[in-house]
Amino acid sequence: MKRKIITTGDGSKTIQIEDWNEQYHSIHGAINEANHVFIKHGLLFYSECISKSHSKPINILEIGFGTGLNAFLTLIEAEKLKKTINYVGVEAYPVRQDEIDVLNYFDLISTQHQTEFELLHTSPWDEVIAVSKYFQLKKEEKFFKDISAISEFDIVYFDAFGARVQPELWTEDIFRLMYHTMKPNSVLVTYSAKGSVRRAMQSVGFEVERLEGPPNKRHMLRAIKR
Ligand SMILES: C[S@@+](CC[C@H](N)C(=O)[O-])C[C@H]1O[C@@H](n2cnc3c(N)ncnc32)[C@H](O)[C@@H]1O
Repeated sequence: MKRKIITTGDGSKTIQIEDWNEQYHSIHGAINEANHVFIKHGLLFYSECISKSHSKPINILEIGFGTGLNAFLTLIEAEKLKKTINYVGVEAYPVRQDEIDVLNYFDLISTQHQTEFELLHTSPWDEVIAVSKYFQLKKEEKFFKDISAISEFDIVYFDAFGARVQPELWTEDIFRLMYHTMKPNSVLVTYSAKGSVRRAMQSVGFEVERLEGPPNKRHMLRAIKR
């Protein structure tokens, strides 16, 4: 499918799937959305309110590695928190180098981390790579339905395309799979706030909260596996 780079409301770029009129991030601000949904309500919530250990690494699973924006923000946050993060990004349709070259994330977020941003993308698939002192990455090139990890992750960034275009990724079956990949006392966050998504999460055992959304979006969801 044809992909095009567009500029979002906060000046950061994202990719648009033209045929679906669907973007990799909110058109109101890619960086703002990623910081709000995944960093603030995912990583920081987990490390401040759930994790009891300062020394234990945090294992994160990302559903849809895409542009690497969530991974990049997490890498920078890991350095601030001085916490080791083991990050697994699953992706079936990797973004091409010519697309990565025009994304302006390190310019807007941290030019000091340009090398790390590039390494997120040039590092080989299916190998664990130390991208920085606190951030280890394994990119897995496969479909979400083929994830087989059991009780491995503390946080899931659920960042699939919307249910309008990929309804099969917002079902009980997918959330059951996510639930199994997660440890007890773990957190899943997503930008979606749909009632059907919330019910699918609850039916597989998650406790679900509706939180305020990123700019221009009323709500988002956070699911906790107790
Ligand atoms: C909303 S975008 C992800 C945005 C990404 N987190 C980022 O920050 O750029 C959804 C991603 O899921 C990938 N994807 C879609 N269907 C998939 C599937 N069934 N299995 C694995 N990856 C899939 C797409 O290629 C795309 O990169």
